[in-house]
Amino acid sequence: MTDNTPAELIARSNRLGADPRNTNYAGGNTSAKGIETDPVTGEDVELLWVKGSGGDLGTLKESGLAVLRLDRMRALVDVYPGLDREDEMVAAFDYCLHGKGGAAPSIDTAMHGLVDAKHVDHLHPDSGIAIATAADGEQLTATVFGGQVVWVPWRRPGFQLGLDIAQIKAENPDAIGCILGGHGITAWGDTSDEAEKNSLWIIETAAAYIEANSRPEPFGPALDGYAALPEAERRAKAAALVPTIRSIASQDKPMVGHFTDSDVVLDFLAAAEHPRLTALGTSCPDHFLRTKVKPLVLDLPADASVEDSIARLRELHVAYREDYQGYYDRNAVEGSPAIRGADPLIVLVPGVGMFSFGKDKQTARVAGEFYVNAINVMRGAEGLSTYAPIDEAEKFRIEYWALEEAKLQRMPAPKPLATRIALVTGAASGIGKAIAKKLAAQGAVVAIADLNLEKAQAAAAEIGGTDVAIGVQADVSDEDAVQAAVDATLLAFGGLDLVVNNAGLSLSKSLLDTTVADWDLQHNVMAKGSFLVSRTAAKVLIEQGLGGDIVYISSKNSVFAGPNNIAYSATKADQAHQVRLLAAELGGHGVRVNGINPDGVVQGSGIFSSGWGANRAAVYGVDEKDLGAFYAQRTLLKREVLPDHVANAVYALVGPDLTQTTGLHIPVDAGVAAAFLR
Ligand SMILES: NC(=O)c1ccc[n+]([C@@H]2O[C@H](COP(=O)([O-])OP(=O)(O)OC[C@H]3O[C@@H](n4cnc5c(N)ncnc54)[C@H](O)[C@@H]3O)[C@@H](O)[C@H]2O)c1
Ligand SMILES: [Zn+2]
Repeated sequence: MTDNTPAELIARSNRLGADPRNTNYAGGNTSAKGIETDPVTGEDVELLWVKGSGGDLGTLKESGLAVLRLDRMRALVDVYPGLDREDEMVAAFDYCLHGKGGAAPSIDTAMHGLVDAKHVDHLHPDSGIAIATAADGEQLTATVFGGQVVWVPWRRPGFQLGLDIAQIKAENPDAIGCILGGHGITAWGDTSDEAEKNSLWIIETAAAYIEANSRPEPFGPALDGYAALPEAERRAKAAALVPTIRSIASQDKPMVGHFTDSDVVLDFLAAAEHPRLTALGTSCPDHFLRTKVKPLVLDLPADASVEDSIARLRELHVAYREDYQGYYDRNAVEGSPAIRGADPLIVLVPGVGMFSFGKDKQTARVAGEFYVNAINVMRGAEGLSTYAPIDEAEKFRIEYWALEEAKLQRMPAPKPLATRIALVTGAASGIGKAIAKKLAAQGAVVAIADLNLEKAQAAAAEIGGTDVAIGVQADVSDEDAVQAAVDATLLAFGGLDLVVNNAGLSLSKSLLDTTVADWDLQHNVMAKGSFLVSRTAAKVLIEQGLGGDIVYISSKNSVFAGPNNIAYSATKADQAHQVRLLAAELGGHGVRVNGINPDGVVQGSGIFSSGWGANRAAVYGVDEKDLGAFYAQRTLLKREVLPDHVANAVYALVGPDLTQTTGLHIPVDAGVAAAFLR
């Protein structure tokens, strides 16, 4: 027989996962049981489809489901060795898979398989977790839901929790679900629609109860001086603090960041109870790897100066690391995974906002979303009662769970440029765009700065979503615009590591035809523009203390002398010497400065397509479309130079291989003897 059970399950999961009130990103799981024909025996076989490990309900597909034989999965009860060895059951799930089994079964598989209901949802809604983390959560559950929803005391997810919930369901035949202490909710139904309806009823009933019964100021009265700064002011302060905060979050390993100044965050930090509540830490099991147990909270008012804030953040960082090491030492047992670093993943700055960090932009953004979930949970719990998350030892048992460690160990190795934050100027077109693409393909996140915002955004969108690349508007010859572009990069990605001075244009005129305006334009965009970008970036790189790279896209013409190029070639020579000057000046900060000398890059180049190519083609008596091939014939290798070749050279300079090289220029010209460097 064919069955639409999995399709129904996917549709329900996608609907539930689409609304952030129902569950956090990648949190929770859903399942359905049904009958299919066993292709081996031709007999009916009862199966369990359950969301597998990883992935998000909102975008779940059938390939994300684990498919298990229910009879075998339930037979595990007879061999279950008891609580202290419950983790072994996860490996046993693999022996219950049907066919190829789909996605890997998650730790919550037992809850779905053992509960005697055809459809089961396990979710992490803020409203439900608010009740789950209230000090009197058990009484509240009875008050809010009557007997329809049952309290299940906290227990780390696993086989035993599955047995607990199955038993509670059996003992409470009228119940539609339960509140899992410190954790979330589980609901069930005979049909998919019924399970969904029951899940939503629990979530909405909890939310309505909180709304109607919460005390007016759950986070306490306003703290004098802690109200949000006006938007422009707080963004400027946030950008000024980014280099320090990035370095704090990256002492153990480099991190990418995300910044949020939503009202939820600012209101929380403006209220009197935020220091007590942040110290209590988060509760739902999903949180500990993403946000760590606690955030680092700056204990200064909104109008504290940037200098005072930096000094205090540095002190608090030392204290944070000691505190985290203490937490690890108090709770680690023989066989615990090694400490994973003691830097904060969430940094809160009153009046300004929240900085969250992760191994990539998406992870950093989701960590921030999780902390917003935590704030919502604390608001609900404090509004009704007192917020009482699970205790420290249990938090540690989640964060350093052997099963989680095994998952981390199985993760593919990061790409060579992972965690590196790049800014490429003039990257809406030609060589710059190819460089941005290459850097992103190797794992970097990239800000594409160009004169034309729409073109910059379109180039970014070609590379990926805003977790990978963003477009920003900037005229590199304008000091304020350069600062704004660097600030936008800092706020988008939480730091800066790698700058490519690529913006440029070529007028190609003889000495007598070159006007002062021509001269100024060429020099303003290239010599002055790269000076401004390098200076603004270097300030960040020095403050961050994580080294960095500055690359100049200079030109063969920086060393080659030919006619009709006075302004362009002179400013290219200026850029080339900036490489050497800055390599000398910034080496002490671990910042490497190198350059590329391309030549004859016709394809994709706006410089060529905007008339200059046609002009050159006419001079040489070739078709414009053959100009690249014509230039190739003038080279030693007889090869055409493409934007990707220049991008590859940039990657060679900033990737893992040339770490001891600074002050170098690499020709990418297919061999032009007159431009050999010596
Ligand atoms: N194409 C070649 O053969 C060649 C050879 C050697 C060096 N170069 C250099 O490579 C770089 C890129 O050239 P391309 O061929 O890709 O040209 P391109 O015209 O395709 O790209 C240059 C980009 O720089 C941007 N830009 C111009 N002025 C700017 C400003 N003031 N602020 C911000 N952005 C600005 C433009 O909008 C454009 O998107 C230039 O520095 C150029 O001199 C090119
Ligand atoms: Zn859960």
